[in-house]
Amino acid sequence: MEIINWKELLFPYEQAVDELLLKFRSLDKECRHLGIYSPIDAVTGRLKRPSSILEKAGKKRISPDRIEAEIEDIAGIRILCQFVEDIPKVIEMVRNRNDMTIVEERDYITNTKPSGYRSYHIIIRYPLHTAMGAREVPAEIQIRTNAMNFWATAEHSLRYKYSGNIPKELQDRLKNCAEAAFHLDTEMATIREEITNAQQLSEIRNNLVANILENMHNLYFVAKLDDMNELNREFIEIWNSDDMDLLREFNTRLNVMAEMYRI
Ligand code: GTP
Ligand code: MG
Repeated sequence: MEIINWKELLFPYEQAVDELLLKFRSLDKECRHLGIYSPIDAVTGRLKRPSSILEKAGKKRISPDRIEAEIEDIAGIRILCQFVEDIPKVIEMVRNRNDMTIVEERDYITNTKPSGYRSYHIIIRYPLHTAMGAREVPAEIQIRTNAMNFWATAEHSLRYKYSGNIPKELQDRLKNCAEAAFHLDTEMATIREEITNAQQLSEIRNNLVANILENMHNLYFVAKLDDMNELNREFIEIWNSDDMDLLREFNTRLNVMAEMYRI
């Protein structure tokens, strides 16, 4: 039997994870920058370890030379959402991309697994440009809420600890936990608007303050010191008043000043 060169085999998959992480994190970052709601809360990625690949190949009777063709989750990313309602939005984001092809979708949210597992999976083919030329690799995108993730991570650890045979009593408790996680998602959905409004407001405020401070910093080099001291005093007053309208107005004024000084 041929010895597998793991470094060489895994390298393209590692590149795929890196690129996918960057792409989905950028989407989230861009939304935040534009002050629009981002359905993405966090993105993580992982490369399947050789031991897990061998284990899966053994279980599914995949011969070593078929590993790359038949194991679809060597490269994996996970997109976490705050609310269940965000999941279809993320799915649409993936479907609308033209830099990856969807091979399969598995909806374990509508069709909860007997274990209690809930998550949405998309298997894609992802084109890469490597030093050896162009090629495609499969990758798995898991989309789930933070509550679903909390449960899945805990259950995965137990499954590992008990080599897949979790004692019946523990299984029952896990089922209860899955129900509690489902309940949490349902309850959070009822105050979703309230939460997202508050988050958006704080994001807008943070962006405004960052812009104000950057303008003030730049103006220090060109404007009169007395004027700057006055502006500084005014900013502290507005900051303490916690008044968004005043903050907006002040920001506009500084933008105009910055324009005047062409900074
Ligand atoms: P494997 O489960 O990995 O052998 O692949 P599969 O071909 O059966 O695909 P499936 O969609 O069932 O699972 C893909 C991945 O989803 C797994 O590798 C896990 O990360 C996750 N997953 C599936 N079922 C469960 C589950 O019951 N509990 C947990 N914690 N994770 C699960
Ligand atoms: Mg499975």
